[in-house]
Order: sequence, then C-alpha cells, then structure tokens
Amino acid sequence: MDKIKIHGGNALNGKIFISGAKNAALPLICASLLTDETVTLTNMPMLSDIKAMNALLEYLGTAINDFDDFVDGHATKTYSYRTKEATSFTAPYDYVRKMRASYYVLGPLLARYGKCELSLPGGCAIGARPMDIHLSSLEQMGAHIEIKNGYINAEVDGRLKGAHIIFPIVSVGATCNVLMAAVLAEGETILENAAKEPEIGDLADLLNAMGAQIEGIGTSKLTINGVEKLHGALHKVIADRIEAGSYAAAAAITRGCIELINARPETLSRPLQVLRNMGVAVETTDNSIIIDARGKTLVGQDIMTEPFPGFPTDLQAQFLALMMTAEGASMVTETIFENRFMHVPELLRMGANINVHGHASAIVRGVKKLSGAPVMATDLRASFALILAGLVAEGETIVNRVYHLDRGYEKLEEKLKSVGADIERIKEDDGE
Ligand code: EPZ
Repeated sequence: MDKIKIHGGNALNGKIFISGAKNAALPLICASLLTDETVTLTNMPMLSDIKAMNALLEYLGTAINDFDDFVDGHATKTYSYRTKEATSFTAPYDYVRKMRASYYVLGPLLARYGKCELSLPGGCAIGARPMDIHLSSLEQMGAHIEIKNGYINAEVDGRLKGAHIIFPIVSVGATCNVLMAAVLAEGETILENAAKEPEIGDLADLLNAMGAQIEGIGTSKLTINGVEKLHGALHKVIADRIEAGSYAAAAAITRGCIELINARPETLSRPLQVLRNMGVAVETTDNSIIIDARGKTLVGQDIMTEPFPGFPTDLQAQFLALMMTAEGASMVTETIFENRFMHVPELLRMGANINVHGHASAIVRGVKKLSGAPVMATDLRASFALILAGLVAEGETIVNRVYHLDRGYEKLEEKLKSVGADIERIKEDDGE
C-alpha cells in the first residue's frame, strides 16, 4: 500500500485548481442510467471512486468513453455514458462493498426498468449509515422491497407513482436516490425536508437538462412532475467544495496564502465564516477564493456540523486539525455521523491536545508544536486531517492507507507540492 511522506514546516503559498466534486459526480453518473441517450459529464475528477462507479455501470451495460479535457487551462476528464439497454439490474456485493455510493443505481434502475437488486451496504468507519429512508420513500412510490441474503430486491408493477414524501431526517443520499426515481414516475412527487447540499442542485440541474421537471432546486422542498422519457445532455460537474475547504485549511494551518481557482464561495459560506472568525483574511470572486493567513495569530472557534448550509461534516476532521494550532479552546460537535472522531487518537500521537466527549464532541486546545509520526486514518477526510497535521509538524510524518485519499483528492501530492509542501508518495514497490 502506498504511503505519503511529509516534512512539515513549510508555509504554503500559490494557486491550487479545485477539481470537480466527487460527491456530485457519483449520482450524476448514475443519472445517465435514466435514458437510452448519451449523457456527457465534463470537469470530472480523476479518482478511484469514479473508476469504481464506472466499473459498476459497465457491469450494468453502460458504454463509457473518456476524453482528456481542460477547464481554465487545467487537465480534467470528460466522460460520456450511454445505457442503450441495461443488461443487468444487479449491483453485486463486490462493487457495493468497495463504494457505498453504488446505491445510487437503485432509483434510476427502478424508475426506468421497474427492478433493481442491490447489495445492502453495511456500516462504515464513520457510522452505521442505514438505507431505511431511501427504501421507505421508494415504497411510498409503489415499490415492493424485500431484503434477502444481504440484497435489497426492489420491484414495481408498471411505473413508480408520484407521492408526497416528508423525509424524517435530512439525507443527501436518500434525496438523490428518490429524486432520480421521481423524474420518471407517474404524476407529481413532492419531497419535503430534502437535503439542500450543492451536489443535489447539480444533480437536479442535470436531470432538468435531460428533460425532467424539477422545481424548488436549492430549497428543502422539491416538486417533481414525472415525465415518460428523458434524453441525453451535456453537464459540467460543480467544483468540489470539500476539496476547496480542505486546501483552505492547509493554507490556514501553515499560515500561508493560497488562491483556490475554480472554487465556488457560495458553497462554503459557513467554513469561510469560521476562517474569518479565526483571523484569516478571506477574499472571494465568483469562482475563486483567496485564503491568506500570513503573519496571522489564529484564534480557535467552535464548530458544529449540520446539513447544508451548516458546517459540513466532511470538513470536520480538517478544521479540527486546524484548531490544534490556534490559540485557546475550540469545541467541535459532530451531529451527522455517530463515529467521526477516529482521527483524534492519531492526532494525539503527534502531540495534539484534544479531549473527545462520547461520540458527539471534542475540545481542542491549541498547542505550540506538533511532531511528525507514522499515522493512519480510517476514512477519506480523516486522512486529510493527518496530512494537515503533517504539514506543520516538526520532522517527518508518514501517512499510511493512502487509498482513502485517492478516493477523493485528485493529484493530492502534486497540488500540495505546487504550493511549497515537502511531500512525496512512497510507492509500495519502493520497498519502504
Ligand atoms: C453523503 O453521504 C456523502 N457521500 C458523505 O460524504 C457526507 O458525509 C454525507 O452525505 C453528509 O453530508 C456522498 O455524497 C457519496 P446522508 P450519505 O444520507 O448520503 C442517516 C465523504 O467523505 N441516514 O446525508 O450517505 C445517516 O446514517 C462522504 O465524501 C439514515 O439514518 O449521507 C447519517 O447519520 C462521507 N437513514 C445521516 O442520515 C438513511 O436511509 C446523514 O446521512 C439515510 C441516512
């Protein structure tokens, strides 16, 4: 398994290009299953999760082509997807266990073909993550659902029927899955207490470009008038707000200055406010953000994760790491997942002062210095928190289990190196 080696201490200065969003791209890919025409997605990030989703769609019978492309002069990928006819309606265990977002094939296959068999994803490092809300919502639309031998078998006689669904809690995944089902359902579907994450707006924009009729995009009430057929479309994937927020934390923790090119400030209002409150200078344009912490004394801030537009759980680990070097105490409260402080024991090994209370909150007290250590994390965002700690720690930090980072951070070492980090990947073959 590859590792990442960092020598801490360099302030990061320069420009970083923000890639297309993984968590937007994954449902967008699955939306292509809703039509027999070609859906083309530009500004696609090159990530192992995208490869995993492409492999699943190929298994289902989708023809995929990829092209090298450029956005603002930066190399990206464009992928085209065409599912003339699906040849399988099953998402097998081997695909789903590698990537739980495989469950996004459920809504589209059920809507277009009236059937789908999906391996039930288990829990993961950050929580139990059940699918009950996806399933009960689809049942309200007329689906018959049975769980057997670890698989969800979903079927519907004829088309799904429009329904008035009030989600009991805000769920990104359930909102996306049910939205993709509703666009081909018979009649009107109303989704209340829907998630408002920008990735859902991006999905709704693509679906409307394919001929869907969705109103209320960006609000917690989506109204969908089902149509009989959708057509192909061309769509640019929204910029990754979590990647941008992660590099913003990198600029701040190293007391450097980074311009995040192709970033969307309106998707990061709360994290940018936290940075400003800490004492970081933040400037924004429509598609870039400058994070300037040069010469600044940063002051700790309290953070509580919440559904969008609140502070994203996917930036909790990175901002917790940032608070380790700020003055005073910061309380970090996690409300979305029940097990998302797994990075803390590793950060403690680097000299941090953090007390976790139950599973819900942590008090971080700023320390004068951290020291490098071999560390490993259990998920993607936690791994980035360790990278951040390594960037400011004295001496060498080795981050193990780099495959987590490869799932969600495109060209991580290249991007950090370009702004002055002393970072390199140690390949498994290098024998280290
Ligand atoms: C998405 O996960 C993201 N993943 C996650 O990002 C992100 O942390 C999360 O949304 C919250 O923003 C993708 O977009 C691929 P949820 P998702 O359904 O959809 C509970 C990353 O690092 N729940 O909004 O799975 C659930 O257990 C990843 O990129 C149910 O109880 O999250 C959680 O406590 C990690 N029943 C809460 O809702 C359900 O049927 C919110 O989860 C569905 C969810």
